[in-house]
Amino acid sequence: MMRPMTAADVDAVLSIEQAVHAHPWTRGNFADALAAGYLCQVDEVGGELRGYAVLLPGVDEAELLTIGVAAAHQRRGLGEALLRAALRLADERGLSRIFLEVRPSNAAALALYRKAGFLEVGRRRSYYPAPHGREDAILMEGRS
Ligand SMILES: CC(C)(COP(=O)(O)OP(=O)(O)OC[C@H]1O[C@@H](n2cnc3c(N)ncnc32)[C@H](O)[C@@H]1OP(=O)(O)O)[C@@H](O)C(=O)NCCC(=O)NCCS
Repeated sequence: MMRPMTAADVDAVLSIEQAVHAHPWTRGNFADALAAGYLCQVDEVGGELRGYAVLLPGVDEAELLTIGVAAAHQRRGLGEALLRAALRLADERGLSRIFLEVRPSNAAALALYRKAGFLEVGRRRSYYPAPHGREDAILMEGRS
């Protein structure tokens, strides 16, 4: 079910991204991530793409850039499976420290990351555009 994302997946990934993120990545963002060799995974069953995750591998750490699960498939463990698959890919490359940024208002994502052992290590003030002004980012660190 879990496999690397290809250029042929971008339409389906984009349609989930646009449905579940208030400020979605663009087609170009996904195309660039694939072209740059970022670790991009999808979960697919019977031709239906259900979720995705994109990890930027650094020199000695990695950053989770985006993760999403189609609304119809949320709360069934897919987000956790995608996150753990991304952590495994990082581990295979010797990248044990994983960073990510998340909105304080994103209770689902915060709970997912905490469940996977991520801890808050910092804040970026007014980092994200929000419906009324800006919103901080919580910087989290986890282990692969
Ligand atoms: C965050 C997201 C990827 C989680 O995917 P998911 O498949 O629904 O998550 P899972 O079913 O694997 O849940 C794993 C854990 O996350 C937490 N969680 C997930 N959704 C939650 C929710 N709506 N409320 C509270 N906790 C939630 C729970 O701790 C859950 O464990 P549990 O089922 O044992 O309680 C999904 O909600 C999503 O796509 N959100 C929109 C995109 C997004 O915000 N991405 C992150 C940007 S930083």
